[in-house]
Amino acid sequence: MANQGQFSGKVALVTGAGSGIGEACAVALSGRGGRVVVADINVAAAERVVRGITEAGGAAAAVKVDVADPSTAETMVRFAVETFGGLDVAVNNAGIGGEQNPTGDYSPDGWRRVIDINLSGVFYCMRFEIPALLKRGGGAIVNMASILGSVGFANSSAYVAAKHGVVGLTKNAAIEYATRGIRVNSVGPGFITTPLLSASLDAAAQQAIADLHPMKRMGTPEEVANLVCFLASDAASFITGSYYVVDGGYIAQ
Ligand code: NAI
Repeated sequence: MANQGQFSGKVALVTGAGSGIGEACAVALSGRGGRVVVADINVAAAERVVRGITEAGGAAAAVKVDVADPSTAETMVRFAVETFGGLDVAVNNAGIGGEQNPTGDYSPDGWRRVIDINLSGVFYCMRFEIPALLKRGGGAIVNMASILGSVGFANSSAYVAAKHGVVGLTKNAAIEYATRGIRVNSVGPGFITTPLLSASLDAAAQQAIADLHPMKRMGTPEEVANLVCFLASDAASFITGSYYVVDGGYIAQ
């Protein structure tokens, strides 16, 4: 494999790695030689992913995190450092779809839940990842935004606001640490076939969503993981503060 060893000697942490895009990122980082911390609020799911990675010959460890709780984000980073000796790559991916309602009907509790997990969660994780990366002389952070980090989507105010926020937060951290060896980028997937979508949409609704993309299909978690691995790798050494979409042409329309 051409990329084998790209993350050799590196320690990578992925939040929300018990399912979907995060799982694909953890598997891809391991397949390219990284030791991976698989972090999720669902510890059984994280342990399942770790079993898959170790059975394939990789090194991985599971840890429970609720990204909306800064104290568990701190514990997660400490776990990575104590287990594998440091931190080089962080993929802040955990997120939820949340309530779907027009803005005038959106419940304040539903709003807070999405913002807490999808936006504040990324900040809390970076807050503790950055000092650990600085101790290694630098590293790379990839934050999971969405196409909805740059365009709207009816009935999804909180999600769209949170993902736009992730794109802005990414830019800010990037300029703050640009001379200190930390690159920070965000990724904007189009609609991807994961449990997040299949849990909330029937087959007809999923086809209607697929048809919104010029490619007339949804993406796969592996297609997102390929971009994440590129941005996390030294091949992206002059890329920071950017927002890259992987969306079958969705926002080109
Ligand atoms: P998923 O539902 O398959 O996986 C999300 C994982 O995050 C689950 O394992 C879940 O247990 C975990 N999680 C949820 N809340 C958490 C919390 N508070 N703390 C820690 N872990 C938590 O979802 P999927 O589709 O893989 O989404 C991953 C990320 O990608 C999310 O940020 C989502 O917004 C984003 N995304 C997804 C798209 C899609 O179409 N599936 C499109 C664009 C972005």
